[in-house]
Amino acid sequence: MRTIVVYSSRTGNTKKVGEAIAAALPEGTLAVSVQEIPTDLPAYDCVFLGFWVDRGQADKAAADLLPKLTNAHVALFATLGADPHSPHAAESLMKAAELLPEGKKPAGQFICQGAVDPKVIEMMYKMFPKGHVHGQSAERDALHAEAAKHPDAADLAAAGAFAKKTMEDIVRGNV
Ligand SMILES: Cc1cc2nc3c(=O)[nH]c(=O)nc-3n(C[C@H](O)[C@H](O)[C@H](O)COP(=O)(O)O)c2cc1C
Repeated sequence: MRTIVVYSSRTGNTKKVGEAIAAALPEGTLAVSVQEIPTDLPAYDCVFLGFWVDRGQADKAAADLLPKLTNAHVALFATLGADPHSPHAAESLMKAAELLPEGKKPAGQFICQGAVDPKVIEMMYKMFPKGHVHGQSAERDALHAEAAKHPDAADLAAAGAFAKKTMEDIVRGNV
């Protein structure tokens, strides 16, 4: 099965996860950024598409590509600043899946936390007053401090396990 990993990454978190996914797949599996996808992308049987969460959605570069993925199997992965077990994380994945060509469901999904650009945090704290959900608070500071540690080795190992399990599911016809 011809498989490729395509990621959209602004500050490198999703790229790291994409590379861990490619490393867990058969030797030689390419991991490329969305800006450098090969012209024969439609010829691949399986695409692992990675995005960073931008205001609750797949970032624009990934969102533009998702409806064009007519490949037999598409699996999604993402990074975000918030808790990866939160409804916000689940909704972000769900919204991305909805952008796939009509009737297509992801073969697998994975999301983990990723450090938020300190310049973006500073901008948000300036833009929103204290007490606002995006404004500065002890809770918000703790979230960003936790996110700053990710993706970590455990996230990358989990991403690799997700890739292997997704391939098994595809081969067994479970998805
Ligand atoms: C403009 C902007 C919007 C973001 N929106 C969200 C968001 O809605 N929810 C969230 O949890 N994280 C959000 N983030 C954080 C990123 O999704 C997170 O840091 C991600 O790991 C960045 O991935 P990258 O390093 O591959 O670019 C946002 C970051 C930026 C810069």
